[in-house]
Amino acid sequence: MNELLPIKNIFNNKDVVSIDQFDRASVEKLFTTTRRILKMSPSRRLNLLKGKLVTLLFFEPSSRTFGSFSAAIKRLGGLTIDYQNPTETSSAVKGETLEDTIKVFENYSDAIVMRHYEMGAAKRAADAALFIPVINAGDGSGEHPTQALLDGFTLRQELGKLDGLKGVLAGDLLYGRTVHSLIRLFNLFNNVTLYLLSPKNLRLPEELMKRFAKSNVKLVEIPTEKDIPRDCDFWYWTRVQKERFKDLKEYEKVKTRFILTPELVKERGNKNMLLMHPLPRVGEIDERIDSDPRSIYLNKQVKNGMYVRMGLLQLILGK
Ligand code: NCD
Repeated sequence: MNELLPIKNIFNNKDVVSIDQFDRASVEKLFTTTRRILKMSPSRRLNLLKGKLVTLLFFEPSSRTFGSFSAAIKRLGGLTIDYQNPTETSSAVKGETLEDTIKVFENYSDAIVMRHYEMGAAKRAADAALFIPVINAGDGSGEHPTQALLDGFTLRQELGKLDGLKGVLAGDLLYGRTVHSLIRLFNLFNNVTLYLLSPKNLRLPEELMKRFAKSNVKLVEIPTEKDIPRDCDFWYWTRVQKERFKDLKEYEKVKTRFILTPELVKERGNKNMLLMHPLPRVGEIDERIDSDPRSIYLNKQVKNGMYVRMGLLQLILGK
């Protein structure tokens, strides 16, 4: 596929590299398909990807994204070729280019789900694959579209809407690809306000601040936890992305600058809000929060991740 095509309600065999390809109607279509699959019996689901083989090509560590794509494909009756850490175990060690790896796996499979440590690698892979779709499972500090889609779906299921929401995005907004995709997703809806809370050196990239300055999504940077408005619908916490730091001393200084604690939730939260995180967490959420019914990072977000990926694969590859 040479072009990064807009989805515009037609998913068939399309690459999914960026949330920029989506319009509101396409997101709604994905959510409707996901709900339909949620209601289906496990045995009926098994027909949806029967005979399809998907390569999971993960150049970077992953538990949830890899696991949930793998589960989604198998629960729809499809099969996977699992390729984790190809930089250690495949021809990439010998110096094979990403493009060549993609062109080879294109001969074996019906789609490629790829995670890569370089921003822009998903687009390169999509350009290299001439006949089958490539789904971006995270490209460096670029984007993570399927995470944003599952986060959006979860908010929609829990709160009944995405329009008009107010939320906090906290943590590493510079390197965190999940928030880069999530902001793009919110921009497809109306009247969303996002409060951005990050260490000074991990603020949202200037380019995204500029791009969304006059858009549907209002971005408001706040300096401290004390500036979180009490009436937010959700808090979306994220991990400081250690692997993107050149100087680990810099990482050490900021890694737990913002910690989600029961005390903070009590002080700045409200009883209906949702506490979210894409995971993994490494100290930025106090474990005492796990038993709070408002926390959904270890249950609903994870579960919906599998179903949204089923929905997406069904629309791209299904009958
Ligand atoms: C995220 C990622 O890989 O970007 N994890 C995930 O896919 N759920 C977030 C992170 O690693 O911090």
